[in-house]
Amino acid sequence: MGTERPLAEGEPVLVRRREGEAYLLSLRSSPQSVEGVGVIDLSGQIGAPPGGIIEWAGATYRVLRPSLADILRQLRRRAQIITPKDAQQLLFLAQVEPGSWVAEAGAGSGALTVVLAHAVGDTGHVVSYDRRADFLEVARRNVAHAGFSERVRFVERDVTVEGFDESELDGIVLDVPEPWAALEAARSALVIGGAVATYTPTYNQLERTVRALRTLGFEEIRSVELLERTLHVGEGGTRPEFDMLGHTAFLTGARRVS
Ligand SMILES: C[S@@+](CC[C@H](N)C(=O)[O-])C[C@H]1O[C@@H](n2cnc3c(N)ncnc32)[C@H](O)[C@@H]1O
Repeated sequence: MGTERPLAEGEPVLVRRREGEAYLLSLRSSPQSVEGVGVIDLSGQIGAPPGGIIEWAGATYRVLRPSLADILRQLRRRAQIITPKDAQQLLFLAQVEPGSWVAEAGAGSGALTVVLAHAVGDTGHVVSYDRRADFLEVARRNVAHAGFSERVRFVERDVTVEGFDESELDGIVLDVPEPWAALEAARSALVIGGAVATYTPTYNQLERTVRALRTLGFEEIRSVELLERTLHVGEGGTRPEFDMLGHTAFLTGARRVS
């Protein structure tokens, strides 16, 4: 069975005209203004099932519950964000699942924060650290826009200097330029059996990170790189697209076992 849960006031909704033309809005009981388009009144959708049709600004739109992909497409970007191909693998490497308590550094634009908050569900929790207040502000706004504010706590801090507040986390993801400098603190913050995952764009960063993981006694250390190739599907002419999403970063997972 799918989820035909009625739409509730305050939740994010996708107001979609066609692919590539959609707005991520909050379902409010009063009219709201959408930059560049005009004022929209979504009050009639409160309590309705997803899929309702509305007329707005001379066009027809459908009101949907947004997917994770919809939310990520609509993020405001400041720092370079983690792409879906890497974000999903980081969840796997950091052992993130519904109900998990996890941390990340740095928050950046909050793309990975949104993915983590989505994965831990409403029984889990995410603590997102960044040393820059301006990035935290962007990440906080993006997380709120996605409807996940209650699952995420933001902390302004340099984790290589001050570490993490927590002591029994299930997983930690490090997307900072010097992840090796935060690994000792990450180890103390993890529950035994918990995992850390790192995102390192260069070979030099990868080597230094893995060296530190080994020195600190982490086990099950595994590094991967994912290359994503879209397929062009046409009757009798199916083939890979000519361009692909190649190198972004190397991803490493490791477990604290003692
Ligand atoms: C590439 S961005 C992270 C992008 C983020 N994962 C996303 O998907 O949007 C790196 C972030 O790490 C933060 N950062 C760098 N060094 C840090 C440190 N030692 N402690 C905390 N945050 C740090 C930066 O301020 C920056 O916001």
